Amino acid sequence: MTFLFNSDAQRGVVFRGAFARELPHLPFAIDPATVNSDLVRYIISWTVPRGLERYRNLEILFSVGAGVDQFPLAALPSEVKVVRMVEDGIIRMMQEYVTLAVLALHRNLPAYVDLQRRREWRALSQTQAADRRVGLLGLGVLARAVLESLKPFGFGLSGWSRSDKTIEGVTTYCGPAGLRQMLAATDILVCLLPLTEDTRGMLDRDLFAQLPKSAALVHAGRGAQLDQLAVLAALDTGQLAGAVVDVTEPEPLPADHPLWTHPKVLLTPHVAGATQAETAARAVIDNIKRHEAGLDPIGLVDRNRGY
Ligand code: NAP
Ligand code: GLV
Repeated sequence: MTFLFNSDAQRGVVFRGAFARELPHLPFAIDPATVNSDLVRYIISWTVPRGLERYRNLEILFSVGAGVDQFPLAALPSEVKVVRMVEDGIIRMMQEYVTLAVLALHRNLPAYVDLQRRREWRALSQTQAADRRVGLLGLGVLARAVLESLKPFGFGLSGWSRSDKTIEGVTTYCGPAGLRQMLAATDILVCLLPLTEDTRGMLDRDLFAQLPKSAALVHAGRGAQLDQLAVLAALDTGQLAGAVVDVTEPEPLPADHPLWTHPKVLLTPHVAGATQAETAARAVIDNIKRHEAGLDPIGLVDRNRGY
């Protein structure tokens, strides 16, 4: 049995140490050239490693990240379990990022940055948090943690998912009718959806038109969910008052793209949440222990749903 690590060297050092302590019976390899491919039971990787078919006894393919849209799920052997990253470090980072972004939009930060550039000392009118409604697209691991972080500020909170949910202090919606209802009652929309065929391109002109005038967007899902021309148009007409965008299509965003310089946009280079080596090693080790005990790993991907 072997665990094959296919990610960056710094994380590799941390994983190797944690595996030696916690799973001493499981050989840990970083260089695929040094392993007998028949012995590899587990691989962690961001994309599918070249020559995956060599690993005939592979049981789990772990994603380095929370998303699995970079894996061709339908083409992977059906007996291999695909597991996305569910770990405390990335969760905390996403809580920080979305809280920062929601507060930035709530407190008119893009407009103040613009005023600063023009050396204009002017106060803008300020809505109270209790009168601002934040709506989450997605109610998964990250979105639910973000909602907990937002609770103390007193915003009206809601969230939309595929399946019906009950979350204390949050108005929940599901399905297409639920989406329409939530959008109509959302001032700051936060996207934390996985990229699937259902969510590709869904942040488009029609969706922005269903928000109240002067709503705002935080996009931390995947770039391909956002129609970038539509968001720019909505910002120019005032349908959207501002946007914080962390993910684009393509990445990196080309230097001449108007999102870089739009005065109502705060842009970051896909840094909202990143897998943290110590906590991720813990999560993967726990999942291998669960698997060895005959339990499903946490973060097991449903190939039919695509997440
Ligand atoms: P998750 O736990 O799998 O949650 C996904 C949520 O989206 C679930 O609530 C699911 O609904 C909902 N959903 C999926 N498809 C839907 C649809 N068609 N209609 C309505 N709801 C739908 O995922 P997560 O761990 O929270 O991560 C979410 C995504 O964040 C990742 O896939 C990745 O793309 C992105 N991400 C970005 C960064 C960054 O740095 N920007 C970092 C990490 C992750 P159900 O609950 O009903 O299944
Ligand atoms: C980052 O975007 C991730 O999916 O972990």
